Amino acid sequence: MNLRQVLRDALQQLTAAQVPSASTTAEVLLMHVLERDRTFLYAYPEAELSVEQERAYRHLLRQRAAGHPTQYLTCRQEFWGLPLHVEPGVFIPRPETEHVVEVALQIVRERMSKADARIVDVGTGTGCIALALAKELPEAHITAVDVSEDALRLARHNAEALGLAPRVQFLHSDLLEVFTSHGLAPNGVEGSEAEGSGVEGSRACPERSRGITSHESRPFDLIVSNPPYVSPDQAAQLPREVREHEPPAALFSPGDGLEVTRRLIGQAQQLLVPSGALVLELGYNMAARARSLLGDAWTNIEITNDLRGIPRVLAAQRK
Ligand SMILES: C[S@@+](CC[C@H](N)C(=O)[O-])C[C@H]1O[C@@H](n2cnc3c(N)ncnc32)[C@H](O)[C@@H]1O
Repeated sequence: MNLRQVLRDALQQLTAAQVPSASTTAEVLLMHVLERDRTFLYAYPEAELSVEQERAYRHLLRQRAAGHPTQYLTCRQEFWGLPLHVEPGVFIPRPETEHVVEVALQIVRERMSKADARIVDVGTGTGCIALALAKELPEAHITAVDVSEDALRLARHNAEALGLAPRVQFLHSDLLEVFTSHGLAPNGVEGSEAEGSGVEGSRACPERSRGITSHESRPFDLIVSNPPYVSPDQAAQLPREVREHEPPAALFSPGDGLEVTRRLIGQAQQLLVPSGALVLELGYNMAARARSLLGDAWTNIEITNDLRGIPRVLAAQRK
């Protein structure tokens, strides 16, 4: 069969399965199989697929029709112009998360006097936010944490592939526990356990603290995160691609969806330098409730809308 014919069949199959953007999806999967760009599809509609190509394409179409996200089939998602490797078990970066990067960059460039800001990305997933910041801020010290070993492995892989590995340190941690449990006192004053060689010798979590150097044992100028924020009660409202295929730990936060955000705000209060900033992605309808979690320790609270006008990013400055 030629390209035109397989695309026509694919469109029918994906439309029948109620796959959103069926035409684009059919093209993206075909480009992936052929290792060609869209121009090729339009320039050579009469080109014949080999038997192997057709078999591979039909296999992907069946998986997509069954609900597997396109990005898990192509193993690729672009974020902030960076081609990222994506795989099942790790959250797929979303375009709206680029607003987190925009807000973070604006704060570092306009409000912070130093170029070598210490930044941590909490729940790094593929590493998308940390790697975008590493690309844009060549002198910043960037750490990225995740509770998922699969995410950390993938994030490290992406850092290597993009030549950004020397710029970002990846650590396993439950939110910022790896730092709070190492003797950092409120307001960034180092406690006795964090002195000297930093947290290397900590008894609390020796294997996880391995590799932490002295600059991470001091507080942060900026904490960024796209945390899990879907309430488990809302699971049924998620698209099936998300509900059935993306990792639950990346999606759900207990109770009203704000439990992880609540914990993170508490830790950020301890770990940010005075005037340091917290930048968080928000879920739909979360802005007022997230804002009310901040309390007296914060100032300059700002909410940024995404392109659909949904309040998407909360930024706050530690007093
Ligand atoms: C919504 S995903 C965001 C991933 C990535 N930052 C992005 O924007 O695409 C949330 C991430 O937080 C991680 N995560 C969930 N709970 C966590 C916790 N308690 N501590 C650290 N990471 C956590 C998940 O493994 C997941 O990678």
